[in-house]
Amino acid sequence: MLLPILTLQLAVTLVFLQRHFEGVTRQMTLNLVREIAFVLDQLETKSFAEVEQVEAEKLSLTLRRWDGVPSGNARDWIDVSGRTVIPTIYDALPGVRDVDLSTRKWVIVVIESAKGPISIGFERRRVSASNPHQVLVWMVFTGLVMTILSIFFLRAQLRPINKLAAAAEAFGRGRNVPIDPQGAVEVRVATAAFLDMRQRLERQIEQRTLLLSGVSHDLRTPLTRMQLQLGMMDGPDVEALQEDVAQMNDMITGFLDFSRNASSEKPVEVDLAELVGDLVRRAGPKADMVVEGKPALSHVRAVALRRAVDNLVQNGLKYGTHAHVTLTHLKNSVRITVEDDGPGIAPKDRDQALKPFMRLDAARNQNRGGGVGLGLAITADVARLHGGSLVLGTSEDMGGLRADLTLPKLTLS
Ligand SMILES: Nc1ncnc2c1ncn2[C@@H]1O[C@H](COP(=O)(O)OP(=O)(O)OP(=O)(O)O)[C@@H](O)[C@H]1O
Ligand SMILES: [Mg+2]
Repeated sequence: MLLPILTLQLAVTLVFLQRHFEGVTRQMTLNLVREIAFVLDQLETKSFAEVEQVEAEKLSLTLRRWDGVPSGNARDWIDVSGRTVIPTIYDALPGVRDVDLSTRKWVIVVIESAKGPISIGFERRRVSASNPHQVLVWMVFTGLVMTILSIFFLRAQLRPINKLAAAAEAFGRGRNVPIDPQGAVEVRVATAAFLDMRQRLERQIEQRTLLLSGVSHDLRTPLTRMQLQLGMMDGPDVEALQEDVAQMNDMITGFLDFSRNASSEKPVEVDLAELVGDLVRRAGPKADMVVEGKPALSHVRAVALRRAVDNLVQNGLKYGTHAHVTLTHLKNSVRITVEDDGPGIAPKDRDQALKPFMRLDAARNQNRGGGVGLGLAITADVARLHGGSLVLGTSEDMGGLRADLTLPKLTLS
């Protein structure tokens, strides 16, 4: 914003000084030259003393006989208009010997006349415009005022954009910040479009949730009936069928877990060391935990977070033999790291493993209990909901998978 204003001022100043002051100075100098010419004319016929006391006096010119040394057209280097005055006088009057501008307020022109060389003195302000710097002062001053005004104006215009950005970011973290369209037309249109999009997304999420939970729920009843009927049957295939039905039951539990909308849970202040510690204890002797950093309370959706960490710990125990949990309090975030001594996940498969219903290497997993491939997807969802992230890597100490669940502090309200 400042750049165009400064450029404009500079350009205007230069052009103005150049054109205007040069023109005005030349005009004024030519007027004075006419008066000098008149005095020289009078000297042809009248005596020096007479001209000095009558004509020169009337024109406020100081006439002297001259026998000094020429100043060599002296002028200050800073005297810009003097650069125009000197050549104009030389051009317009024949017989000029010297133009002395060395004193700022007085000009002395040395010239040949009918009565020999004379010097003619007059006030400087008669040949160049006075106080040219005032124009500059005014220009800088108005420029400053305009700049300040436009900063205020821009600020007011930027506020709704910032609000919109904040609302969009909050929505990305599962929070609904109220916002109404404000500011310039364009910003209002953008805000309205955002609100529209938010509403549609919410509706879509709601529909997904309803569909998943509805289908899962409705499937439960016939499944239970099948389980009962199978219980009363005999035969070689019954056991396999029973296993299938049990697996379907697990899947449905998984669906219901996944579809349950975690964002409807209210965030609360909890001691994560306690929450995670409790669930590690319940996981049995094959899981352990250490806490690092300065202990602090965290603002989280406790039930969802518990499920997320539990998924990681259960994976560690299922695919490895031991799970090690590290809870680290950092300056602006909390990190929960779960490591195990299992086979880990190859880097190229890590993105896949985070997707819902995705089980890697199905054959290998078959005898490890009926997972549905939702554990990591749910965990990643919960991390996103808290404005955090779930990152998979390789554990340096244990050789298996390392899962980092990072939650920023103070992101929920
Ligand atoms: N700790 C781990 N070590 C090795 N592989 C893992 C580990 N955790 C997850 N995986 C791989 O990532 C896949 C997805 O894991 P995810 O937890 O989402 O599903 P799951 O454990 O198979 O089923 P669910 O957790 O829903 O019961 C798993 O099938 C497994 O192949
Ligand atoms: Mg799992």
